[in-house]
Amino acid sequence: MTTTALIVAAGRGTRAGGHAPKQWQMLAGTRVIDHTVAAFQNHPGIDRIVVVLHPDDMAHAASFEDQGITIAEGGADRATSVRNGLAALGGETHVLIHDAARPCVSAQVISGVLDALVTASAAAPGLAITDALWRGADGRITGTTDRAGLFAAQTPQGFEVAAICAAHEAYAGTALDDVEVARAAGITVTMTPGDGDNIKITTADDFARAARILENRMDIRTGNGFDVHAFGPGDHVMLCGVKIPYDQGLVGHSDADVGMHTVTDAIYGALAMGDIGQHFPPSDPQWKGASSDVFLRHAVGLVREKGFTLCHVDCTLICEHPKVGPHSTAMRKFMAEILDIDIARMSVKATTTERLGFTGRGEGIAAMATATLVKS
Ligand code: CTP
Ligand code: MG
Repeated sequence: MTTTALIVAAGRGTRAGGHAPKQWQMLAGTRVIDHTVAAFQNHPGIDRIVVVLHPDDMAHAASFEDQGITIAEGGADRATSVRNGLAALGGETHVLIHDAARPCVSAQVISGVLDALVTASAAAPGLAITDALWRGADGRITGTTDRAGLFAAQTPQGFEVAAICAAHEAYAGTALDDVEVARAAGITVTMTPGDGDNIKITTADDFARAARILENRMDIRTGNGFDVHAFGPGDHVMLCGVKIPYDQGLVGHSDADVGMHTVTDAIYGALAMGDIGQHFPPSDPQWKGASSDVFLRHAVGLVREKGFTLCHVDCTLICEHPKVGPHSTAMRKFMAEILDIDIARMSVKATTTERLGFTGRGEGIAAMATATLVKS
């Protein structure tokens, strides 16, 4: 089974209004369509993505093509957009057709459809209606409808490629969705579990609701780090990548950059992926005298690999001397560059321990850090 997600995004969003069609409007920090595309990119059961865009929106095409996504051109109604998208398919066996306007689709809903397609030719998520249903006209309730056996239709709707292509070719008229087209061709469609959060952004109010759903789903991690290095003979110390002249050095296997080590450990902590000693054993001679940015770059690589974004780092250096203040901007700049974050998200501050304890007696430098990661 090879499966393509076909995401239709060629509508004009007339009911939602706004400065641009709804798929291009911002939602929880990124465009609506980016959430939709990411849901399929992050799903292991999806092999390829086709996005259908309106001819007027082709300026956006490159942002998808750069990610290996195929672009097709939309038509005047949804069914035509779907047909144009189907024409862009290659040798895949199955297709999941999804509205770009449903950015909150969960991995479970996608899995439900994929699982059903193992044995069924077609499957789509439905959500049982739980509200009482009325008929109305002119601001008055004119009747009631039995809700038993009624379901709200959702996407993605999944099909065998050959079957849905033939069904679309044979269909006359404009269907609201692809289940309608498939059923008209005599295809039996399995219903899979829908999700109340899988809303279709239709009116302006729906943006706030979708944002709440996505923000609640965010995976936010904080990690802390702590490290100490003793003073020894030398003429400088390395702190957060900055060489500070001093009448002693810091003792350590690597360059003993206590600030960078503690930030590295904070990031490993947020990922729950061990600590610096585990990834770079002091017993290993290749790390002798190593520049500590090697460790930090490794931790940042893991952040990306695991799909997180590093939001913020706060590092506190604890010593009586050398004075950190004059160097803190250079430290922030150096660290922010390695971390690939804005300097406004990289804090370096310092404190003394009022001459108490080992840092107070000038025996060494301690550092602590907090790193915040987020995945949406
Ligand atoms: N769609 C499409 N091509 C069309 C019409 C709709 O690709 N000619 C897509 C929309 O971009 C959306 C999905 O089909 O992702 C569902 O349609 P709908 O919610 O009706 O979106 P719009 O048509 O954009 O909105 P409106 O009807 O309010 O104009
Ligand atoms: Mg529409």
